[in-house]
Amino acid sequence: NIDTQQGLDYVFKVVLIGDSAVGKSQLLSRFSRNEFSLVAKATIGVEFQTRTVMIDHKIVKAQVWDTAGQERYRAVTGAYYRGAVGAMLVYDITKQQSFEHASRWLEEIRSHADKNIVIMLIGNKCDLGTLRAVPTENAKQFAQDENLFFMETSAMESTNVEIAFLMVLSEIY
Ligand code: GTP
Ligand code: MG
Repeated sequence: NIDTQQGLDYVFKVVLIGDSAVGKSQLLSRFSRNEFSLVAKATIGVEFQTRTVMIDHKIVKAQVWDTAGQERYRAVTGAYYRGAVGAMLVYDITKQQSFEHASRWLEEIRSHADKNIVIMLIGNKCDLGTLRAVPTENAKQFAQDENLFFMETSAMESTNVEIAFLMVLSEIY
């Protein structure tokens, strides 16, 4: 069991950010516990989960923070970003507005986090392809313009969730 404080090489703080209901909490529970719920409640305040992974023969503990997309439930912004070395900026591929808000979230990240933070844009709910509102190309272009990594995921079907987190963690490392 490598999930122990002993022998850890690195602890990386990664933050999840994006509109309410895009699936931040479900991406986290998929990554940390391999669980998913369709009847998830909106997050209130801040929560975090950890998972320990191997990257390049090193033991890396990812401490992933999750907060409310809804303004009224959000905690103090400065504290949320403090020490974060990675960020997952999540939108819902079926909700155009959640993608349009990405630039606002990006501004928030850039004004509060370390300038070297690794940021990945995540288009979640790619299992709902028939309801797609945000073309992959548009998101790709935005990510390229803003220097972000980009991936479409499904927390429900487990598509690309592991890869997305591991990519951010390797890039930090
Ligand atoms: P806040 O906590 O309010 O900021 O929302 P959130 O971004 O954490 O969203 P949450 O993870 O609670 O998910 C919102 C809803 O979307 C829930 O009903 C989830 O089950 C659903 N959901 C999350 N990920 C997926 C996905 O990949 N596919 C589908 N079809 N539904 C998803
Ligand atoms: Mg949540």
